[in-house]
Amino acid sequence: MTSVYLHVRLLLLLVVGSVPQTHGGRVLVVPGEFSHWQNMRVIVEELVERNHAVTVLVNTGSPTVNHTRQERFQIQRFTVSMQQGDMNQLWGDFMDFWKYQRNGTRQQAFSASVLIMNSFFSYMSVVCKGLAGNKTFVEGLRRSKYEVILSDPFTPCGDLLADILDVPYIIVMRNTFGYTLERMCGQMPTLPSFVPCNPITATDQMNFMERLGNFMNYATHSALFYFHSSVHMSKIYTEIKGEPTDMCKVLGKKADLWLIRSNWEWDYPRPFPPNFIFIGGHHCKPPKPLPEDLEEFVQSSGDDGVVVFTFGSLYKNLTVERRNMFVSAFQQIPQKVVWGFKGERPQHLPANIRIYDWIPQNDLLGHPKTKAFITHGGSNGLYEAIYHGVPLLGIPLFADQPDNIFILEKKGAAVQLDFYKMDADDLVKGLQAVIKNPSYKENIMRLSRLHHDQPMRPLDRALFWIQFVMRNRGAKHLHVQAGNLTWYQYHCLDVALFLLSILTLVSWLISRTCRFCFRKCCWKHHGKTKAE
Ligand SMILES: *[C@@H]1O[C@H](CO)[C@@H](O)[C@H](O)[C@H]1NC(C)=O
Ligand SMILES: *[C@@H]1O[C@H](CO)[C@@H](O)[C@H](O)[C@H]1NC(C)=O
Ligand SMILES: *[C@@H]1O[C@H](CO)[C@@H](O)[C@H](O)[C@H]1NC(C)=O
Ligand SMILES: *[C@@H]1O[C@H](CO)[C@@H](O)[C@H](O)[C@H]1NC(C)=O
Repeated sequence: MTSVYLHVRLLLLLVVGSVPQTHGGRVLVVPGEFSHWQNMRVIVEELVERNHAVTVLVNTGSPTVNHTRQERFQIQRFTVSMQQGDMNQLWGDFMDFWKYQRNGTRQQAFSASVLIMNSFFSYMSVVCKGLAGNKTFVEGLRRSKYEVILSDPFTPCGDLLADILDVPYIIVMRNTFGYTLERMCGQMPTLPSFVPCNPITATDQMNFMERLGNFMNYATHSALFYFHSSVHMSKIYTEIKGEPTDMCKVLGKKADLWLIRSNWEWDYPRPFPPNFIFIGGHHCKPPKPLPEDLEEFVQSSGDDGVVVFTFGSLYKNLTVERRNMFVSAFQQIPQKVVWGFKGERPQHLPANIRIYDWIPQNDLLGHPKTKAFITHGGSNGLYEAIYHGVPLLGIPLFADQPDNIFILEKKGAAVQLDFYKMDADDLVKGLQAVIKNPSYKENIMRLSRLHHDQPMRPLDRALFWIQFVMRNRGAKHLHVQAGNLTWYQYHCLDVALFLLSILTLVSWLISRTCRFCFRKCCWKHHGKTKAE
């Protein structure tokens, strides 16, 4: 009897398996672009694996997400008044901004900053209005009754959408410059005395001058962010909601959880509220076998092994001069080089170098023949290097990459080179150090052991907390109440002032009493001497 029942159930499962599952939840995802989408995708696929129905929202100008591809999740597009060409232009300007910051005159750097600030303001406003300000679109989403919204703040206004739809909301991110979003909206208590501000200029052990610099770094970022959020974004939020609204308040109140893509084997320790969950390395996996021709090439390296080299998905242009520099350096080393690069290729390639449009990075880093990883220092690639224990040669290009490499360099797991100043000799020396000097391997292996020594996989932790929020319709009980205080209440300045007043009053009373007693006593004494 039971076995028949079991068979019927199994059969039902097989039949029903292809239609949307009712026992999973409905999840809405607002991802970022480029590598941000790659690591959000890992979470999306795991949600699908666990029977949740996932919808990914993509704007019509997105340069990243291919909406025509057949996927196991649904892709829904929202209309923005910006074409893909404009978006590409924006990201090109973004790369130029970093190029001029690192290798340009002051004037170039300044005008690139003004240009990119203006472009980002209009990007944020356009995407925000397309995502949360289109009534038809938002009402369509409301009808789908989502149980949670996951968003990368790289794409603005996921929080406002969650607020309008009244759906629990989870942020997925690595960090913001100056920790502004986390500090000022998420109530993460970041202390300038021992938490280095990013862009990083010092480790977490700072002398007086470094602490002064760190303090000023935080202050500058706070002021810039205040201007951005209060003046610019809050105006758009107010316009969309139709009532006075503050961007930071909406985000801080709305975010049930912050899933942060880092952890303490890498980042410097710092205090955080209980709704911050650290999932660094959630995308790392054991290696799969390499494609046949690549495996053959890797095996042909013998005892010297291979070097894996890539600058990631966003960086496509390499000047002929820089390209030749890399080639002439690689010519001088005994290792084979697997180079992931989409741009124009050198005409004469030495036999120990192979260039591929795309490389299976995780599988290569997990290969026993891999000796070193030359990287721009994007956080996805660095976590894979930590996971597999591959020492690094970091050549940071933009955004948080200099910080990422800086920290691993200080921990003795990486050598850093300056892309704009290095020559072939520096590269050869750097590679030799990383490969021949055992301390780099030992240090990255120590970080790797720390990374693997945790009670659950980072991806499982992410999934547990997402499902926790779905089961419990939010996680407001984890919120610290700091957001409801004014700045003087937060720092207990009112309490200090009160205590100080009491202290002053008591001191005054004591001093008055003493004076009174003293006078009385002296007067008596005086009187007595007079009488005598
Ligand atoms: C998007 O996916 C479709 C279907 O898989 C493919 O034909 C197309 O080339 C892809 N487009 C891009 C830009 O990758
Ligand atoms: C609003 O969204 C709907 C549905 O996605 C779309 O058809 C329409 O063009 C959008 N309106 C604007 C002004 O972008
Ligand atoms: C990158 O190269 C393409 C084609 O070679 C060129 O059109 C574009 O302007 C270059 N971009 C930058 C930022 O140099
Ligand atoms: C760095 O700037 C100099 C001077 O403008 C320029 O000649 C050089 O090509 C730049 N380097 C790179 C790699 O862009």
